Amino acid sequence: MSPLEVKRIEMKQIEMSRRVMVALDVNDKTQALAMRDKLGDSVGWFKVGLRLFVAEGPDLIADLSRTHQVFLDLKFHDIPNTVAQAIESAGNLGVNMVNVHAGGGKPMLEAAAKAAQAFPDMLLIAVTVLTSDTMPKEQALKVALERAKLAKEAGLHGVVCSVHEAAQIKEVCGADFITVTPGIRWGNQDTQDQQRIADPQMAIEHGSDYLVIGRPILHAENPAHAANEAVRMMEQANY
Ligand code: C5P
Repeated sequence: MSPLEVKRIEMKQIEMSRRVMVALDVNDKTQALAMRDKLGDSVGWFKVGLRLFVAEGPDLIADLSRTHQVFLDLKFHDIPNTVAQAIESAGNLGVNMVNVHAGGGKPMLEAAAKAAQAFPDMLLIAVTVLTSDTMPKEQALKVALERAKLAKEAGLHGVVCSVHEAAQIKEVCGADFITVTPGIRWGNQDTQDQQRIADPQMAIEHGSDYLVIGRPILHAENPAHAANEAVRMMEQANY
């Protein structure tokens, strides 16, 4: 049995709803907590990005952590010492996942990984290439793979990547290297600014461990219903 198959069996033991991360791209704490209450137990995670964290800070993280796992998506990119200190602060907040930018280079990644060791319940992942980057597609895939390898060597737990890169990243970095994939759409949903989308079933079949879903849930008439729909599609995956 290949390592990829072993990893898939492990992930299969986790309920699909625990593998959905809702991107809380909302204005403030009131809206964030209202969304949390609407979604309840239908999803396992919330992703808090720059906008919400800068506006609401650690109090919001504490509130969300009472009911859900929290991914602090601040994409740290600075000198190694500063990033290590930021990772320590994130660990002290009690978040379950935090990320850095792989473009920060190996010394920075190693410093981050070392700081994260003090927090065994926190996953440290890297952003490889931003979707907004203007480099040609083939080059973006090459750079993403190189940076994923670098992150693995530096001791990080995984990367944020597109569903279309997930299988290749698993091949190169190993089955237990975590892939977190945004760009999820299904049915006739608007792709908005996402370039390379995939539906929830396809994401699982391509080796995605965690699905980041924002607008398809946030803007749905009934967010919990939309989340359940995504989970049902994930459960259809044949992998
Ligand atoms: O609304 P939507 O489902 O497109 O949201 C996707 C989330 O994932 C957003 O918070 C976005 O910032 C984030 N993200 C992304 N593409 C990346 C990295 C992060 O869409 N490459």
